[in-house]
Amino acid sequence: MSIINKESIIILLAAGNSERFKSGSKNIEKQFFNIGNKTIFEICLENILSLQLNLKILPVISKKKLNNTKKICKNYNTLPPIIGGETRQESVYKALQKLKNQEIKYVLIHDAARPLLDKDVILELYKNMNNNVSCVAPCLKINDAIRKIEKGSKLRALNKNEYTLIQTPQLCCFSDLLSAHNKLNNDYDDESSLLFDKGYKIKTIQGNRISSKITYFEDLEYLKPHINKSMNNYITKIGIGYDVHRLIKCKPNETNKGIILGGHKIASNYYLHGHSDADVLLHSITDSIYGSLNHLDIGQHFPPTENKWKNSKSSIFLKHSLNELNKREGKIIHIDVVIITEFPKISVHSNKIKSSISKISNISEKRISIKGKTNEGIGFIGRKEGIAVLTNTTIQLKDYES
Ligand code: CTP
Ligand code: MG
Repeated sequence: MSIINKESIIILLAAGNSERFKSGSKNIEKQFFNIGNKTIFEICLENILSLQLNLKILPVISKKKLNNTKKICKNYNTLPPIIGGETRQESVYKALQKLKNQEIKYVLIHDAARPLLDKDVILELYKNMNNNVSCVAPCLKINDAIRKIEKGSKLRALNKNEYTLIQTPQLCCFSDLLSAHNKLNNDYDDESSLLFDKGYKIKTIQGNRISSKITYFEDLEYLKPHINKSMNNYITKIGIGYDVHRLIKCKPNETNKGIILGGHKIASNYYLHGHSDADVLLHSITDSIYGSLNHLDIGQHFPPTENKWKNSKSSIFLKHSLNELNKREGKIIHIDVVIITEFPKISVHSNKIKSSISKISNISEKRISIKGKTNEGIGFIGRKEGIAVLTNTTIQLKDYES
């Protein structure tokens, strides 16, 4: 069983106004600053999802940003975002209020201004949580010398070994955190400090400097290479597709029907029978794309029992599967096809078939391989009763799917 308790939830704080970040002449909140074509908020969500914690995420957003953020949250399958408060602490309190009637035992509180997370740190948080502990927080040693500024210019030396830096995510016992919030008098920067002051037991673990917080604009400079690396976190998936359609000999008035393979019509006195245009090749490719996405199959998306798909072009089906791939920001790496038939001779037509598929799908011909094979006269294919197609499609996807 996973160490991560299913009664946990993540509160993702993104309601701040980024005053210090904006002092670097930027007029945008740090969590909505773009790196590449994504905001820090989106990058943070992707990185959380890539850890495959399987926990629900409750984003907390400022009122003015709520509408812009709803769509992003939907794309990343979070809970609907809620409006935060004037301070970080108020934002946490609003989230706790929202969740208080649900059966939540633990809450992971994280700053969206820390887009990079370390799964080992999170596992360690859970390992150290028990019934006697109210909060586990990741901490870092201080490397530099520290001085206390007194009366403007006077500097008093402090022993750095007596101090620690506190990061997020922090794992808190939900009911203790809510009780502590109900007894508030000061403003606290983080949950462990609040809980500690209210007499609850705190544990600290070793954090990771990669989860440092973007506070000033300059902070992005050293985080950027790490953020870019996290955004290139792709996985490869392979989908398989298979389809078969019956070959029918044309009646004298049907001679121009032809055999349609990959949207390319091959003149023949046979045609393929089906509810749609019976393009057995496009069906097989389409199904292999659905397979790589783990997203149903062609018969479920386009039931042959539905009249509206009668005689329809199979390019519609292929385009739908590619649209689903796009929604998940996936890319086709390669499509490899075997057409098993006694006729027509595929090698004669393979370039035209490739070019047709490429035009329909916008996939480079270099990424499409079309091979033909006879069935050595054996079975229904050997008897020229049908054509079968096998396809493997390799895709690349961001690694945040569960
Ligand atoms: N935060 C929040 N609600 C607030 C204030 C802060 O949800 N009212 C969030 C921020 O969006 C950030 C995290 O808490 O993800 C840590 O806060 P901080 O780094 O202080 O961000 P800001 O408050 O936005 O920045 P600043 O203090 O410079 O204004
Ligand atoms: Mg702040």
